[in-house]
Amino acid sequence: RTLDGGGRHLLPGLIDSHVHFRTPGLTHKEDWAHAGRAAVAGGVTTVIDMPNTLPPLHTAEEAHRKAELLAGTTLVDHRFHLGVTGDDPSPLRSVGPREATSVKVFLAGHHTAPDVVRDPAQLEKVFRTAAEAGLRLLLHAEDDAVFGLLDSWRGAPAGYGGYERHRPRSGGIVAVARVVELVRRHGTAVHVLHVSSAEEADLLTAAAHTGLPVTFEVTPHHLSFTATETSRTGARARLSPALRDRSDRERLWQAVVGGEVATLGSDHAPHTRAEKLRPPAEAPPGLPGVQEMLTAVHTGLRRRAPEDSPDAQLSCLARLLAERPAGLFGLDERKGRLRPGLDADFVLFDADERWMLAPGAIQSKCGWSAYEGWTMTGRVLRTVRRGETVYSHADGQAEFGSPDGRWLDARRPGDLVPR
Ligand code: NCD
Ligand code: ZN
Ligand code: ZN
Repeated sequence: RTLDGGGRHLLPGLIDSHVHFRTPGLTHKEDWAHAGRAAVAGGVTTVIDMPNTLPPLHTAEEAHRKAELLAGTTLVDHRFHLGVTGDDPSPLRSVGPREATSVKVFLAGHHTAPDVVRDPAQLEKVFRTAAEAGLRLLLHAEDDAVFGLLDSWRGAPAGYGGYERHRPRSGGIVAVARVVELVRRHGTAVHVLHVSSAEEADLLTAAAHTGLPVTFEVTPHHLSFTATETSRTGARARLSPALRDRSDRERLWQAVVGGEVATLGSDHAPHTRAEKLRPPAEAPPGLPGVQEMLTAVHTGLRRRAPEDSPDAQLSCLARLLAERPAGLFGLDERKGRLRPGLDADFVLFDADERWMLAPGAIQSKCGWSAYEGWTMTGRVLRTVRRGETVYSHADGQAEFGSPDGRWLDARRPGDLVPR
């Protein structure tokens, strides 16, 4: 729910269930001090971090160690998605809901994908193990065998078909169909990440209608840009899965507005400017977005449905960025609702302010944004996390609170004890 405060709205603190904050091992790209500031400046009070770090996060013990490492370093409350290898998914059996409720699986490789499960028998085992352990699988659903086939047919170097043809849609569609079949066989709950094409959205919605435990995520990038942006700016606007066509983008919007999409995730995946300027085949895919997500998606919603009330639009965003991710990832007893005196996470949002993201306002360590020069509609004025103002903004000045973001241990419904 949102409350109307005369053009200013109160939203629940947002949960970004898809970020890459790069600790450990990749801290030249991003760290939790910078990313925490980016998060709260974007109205995000809780993030769930992806496991593709160096080394990657695989076990419950590693989750505890990572939480210790982060203590006192960041503004934002956090949880982790685990990673898994195809050789040995058995560590998943000893993961309790306290440590993690979800596991990311890469079905295809790219620069920052350390664990890729391609072998069909290993994939079966991962799906079976996750189902038995009660863990939700998060899928990076692309197929690099399909990419390889197309590259060789076009005579392009392996793994690369030019910016605008990089990782074509067919690789995503094939992988999504495979995932749906695996869910049908094993009953594993899955959440398909960064869905980029109309066909993937169609397939996943159809699968959900048959009663399969399948949900999906869309990113602000796929809602905001098309492949034209990648042709124009090169690697800067390249991510994996790639940006697609206008008709895909509009199909994704339809899925957001019509309730097919379960969550928005920023896929905040910073790389340095220098890395992005490397020759095309070596430039890593991914762009920052935790700071930009709420305003970017709000801007797009306004443009597409100007007749809808701001309250209806913000309710839609609160559902996709708080209520649904809280429910999917075991945070609903702790986050995602306004619970004054208990969580007290909320965001004061001016739905009408029009502004531009200036380079000096970018909080990510990478220091750049694909949304520079955009006119955004709607701005975060204040972010409160567990009762403390962690971000406020007045007269062009940003102020931040203290970096005491916490690792949230998810409890099962009913376990909640007042603090
Ligand atoms: C992400 C990264 O850089 O970690 N890149 C991306 O293009 N999305 C990884 C990922 O989400 O697959
Ligand atoms: Zn991914
Ligand atoms: Zn990602």
